[in-house]
Amino acid sequence: AIDFKTTMASVEFPSIFLNASGVNCMTVAEMDEMINAACTGGVVTKSATPQQREGNPQPRYYQLEHGSINSMGLPNAGFPYYLDYVTKEHAKPTILSVAGLQMSDNIELLHKIQASEYTGLTELNLSCPNVIGKPQVAYDFEETDALLAEIFSFYTKPLGVKLPPYFDLVHFDQMAAILNKYPLTHINTVNSVGNGLWIDIDTEKVVIKPKQGFGGLGGAMILPTALANVRAFRQRLNPSIKIIGTGGVTSGKDVFMHLLCGADMVSVGTALLHEGVGIFQRLTDELAAIMAEKGYTSIEDFRGKVQDF
Ligand code: DOR
Repeated sequence: AIDFKTTMASVEFPSIFLNASGVNCMTVAEMDEMINAACTGGVVTKSATPQQREGNPQPRYYQLEHGSINSMGLPNAGFPYYLDYVTKEHAKPTILSVAGLQMSDNIELLHKIQASEYTGLTELNLSCPNVIGKPQVAYDFEETDALLAEIFSFYTKPLGVKLPPYFDLVHFDQMAAILNKYPLTHINTVNSVGNGLWIDIDTEKVVIKPKQGFGGLGGAMILPTALANVRAFRQRLNPSIKIIGTGGVTSGKDVFMHLLCGADMVSVGTALLHEGVGIFQRLTDELAAIMAEKGYTSIEDFRGKVQDF
């Protein structure tokens, strides 16, 4: 059998597969399910805000033909709940996702993690598109740079960032130059493609209630954007910064493409929501079949080796 173990920031994951934050990770039961499922590498928590939140009004998630649209608004059980979870011993590693609603929250959350017993990975979500009146932080390059500078003036534990998708090669240059200044363990790319819109033509209404129907797109339709972001950052980031590829994965083929683009781990959101944690066994079997057919015995045989035309 092929070995899908991987190491990130000296944390050993038994597989390359994770949930995308937000899916199957709101409660202890859901996080335990991710840990106990076959072929998962561990679990990423729902992005924690300092206090518990109900999130945006319902309906706030809608399944599209080729993906999903959501405007959840960071419903979560609050930072202490997730810090407590990740601080306990689990059979697989955890990644604590945190999302401040303002810059001072981000600093405060990281101070709390720094002061806590938790020594594992944390991922700062700089890309939530769905909190009313709050822009996606990582679309503001100066703000992101200033925030990371402040964080790394005191923070010494393993830290990565969750990024929104970028669409301009100059933006990849600019963001990578900022990220390369800091001792980040990883980036997770991409968050949902922010502020899409879908309409039900029978009712002539938008399909989700918050923000007049605008919401983050996920699922198969965003795979090309996700692949572009993984590849563009792999071409620009220091090799010490690992990449979790997120976006559009529904099959082993999609995983194979993320890995060819240079992803170190791969996470699954929309398809996990629709299929449940059994998806990780299927993706593993499909990826193994592709590798067997090509004569690859390890991911290192092809990771990051996508060829130009
Ligand atoms: O698509 C998303 N939805 N990305 C986030 O970062 C947060 C989440 C939500 O709760 O709205």
